[in-house]
Amino acid sequence: MRGYITDPSAPGGLRLADDLPEPEPAEDEVVVDVRAFAINRGELKLLELRPEHWRPGQDLAGVVVRAADDGSGPAAGTRVVAIAEGGGWAERVALPADVVAPLADEVAFDQAAALPIAGLTALRALRIDGPVLGRKVLVTGATGGVGQFAVQLAVAGGAEVTAQVSHPDRSDLATRLGAEHVLIELRHVQVGPFDLVLDALGGEVLEEAVHNLSPGGTVATYGNLAGEASLSFLDFRAAPLARIVGFFHAHPQDARGEDLATLVRLTADGRLTPQLGSVRDWSETRETLDALRAREVRGKAVLTIG
Ligand SMILES: NC(=O)c1ccc[n+]([C@@H]2O[C@H](COP(=O)([O-])OP(=O)(O)OC[C@H]3O[C@@H](n4cnc5c(N)ncnc54)[C@H](OP(=O)(O)O)[C@@H]3O)[C@@H](O)[C@H]2O)c1
Repeated sequence: MRGYITDPSAPGGLRLADDLPEPEPAEDEVVVDVRAFAINRGELKLLELRPEHWRPGQDLAGVVVRAADDGSGPAAGTRVVAIAEGGGWAERVALPADVVAPLADEVAFDQAAALPIAGLTALRALRIDGPVLGRKVLVTGATGGVGQFAVQLAVAGGAEVTAQVSHPDRSDLATRLGAEHVLIELRHVQVGPFDLVLDALGGEVLEEAVHNLSPGGTVATYGNLAGEASLSFLDFRAAPLARIVGFFHAHPQDARGEDLATLVRLTADGRLTPQLGSVRDWSETRETLDALRAREVRGKAVLTIG
């Protein structure tokens, strides 16, 4: 079986091997024939941390070729999207049935592959404080992989959404995604204070986000692309009892398949449109990784197989 594996002697430390063992599913696992997978920014770091014979790949979409022996999960032949612990950048992968969700016919494999980590991050972070209907929500890094989903889902949930983008030329995309306000700097913001902030950036952006929180408001922090923030209780002067929550998409573990099914439903009915910044054949995975590192991809980077 073909699939990617880290190898310090290969260019870029990654090799497309053609002699990987076929997956051996446990009783509660299905085998999926992978048709598309997406790369997450966090995986760039994992590739560095696990240079020898690690098999990357978390976000994928494909077709079940073997149902789980215990009868759980979708039948063979079902089109699905899934979140794996690894091994998804390969022709086939075994996965617990509870991290797999069936795909509606309207959702293409490349769109579906974009959903798992970025979509779950946005969906679950938006739920942190209950309904967002009528709330003021700020999304930082709003045209990135997570941000684009966060803006669309917050809009679908009835929030007044402000998008923070890295550059003026990202403004149109943020507006098309449904953001009511778009800004680059968070100093002297007129549109807050915000009840909820979804933050991918950290650093000064997180510091300024805290200064623009409403009393009792929440920041869900899930990335630190802009570095480390320096904060003390005095930064919360305008927002007593506000809090910063360290957010990880995989928790709770046991409802990931259910939440993926929600993302599929919203995509099928047009409320969520995955922004695919790059779609290439999987033979171009290394080039796509380079483009992601160079910040050349707006939205999700997807690779297709076959
Ligand atoms: N905790 C979790 O469970 C979890 C889950 C998913 C993601 N993450 C993390 O969340 C972060 C965002 O992920 P992603 O997939 O959305 O990444 P992404 O697709 O690369 O998007 C990042 C966004 O932030 C902007 N950005 C990057 N560096 C910036 C900087 N120094 N200053 C201002 N804007 C900057 C980018 O703007 P440009 O368009 O200019 O590049 C882009 O819009 C990453 O750190 C990722 O590892 C964490």
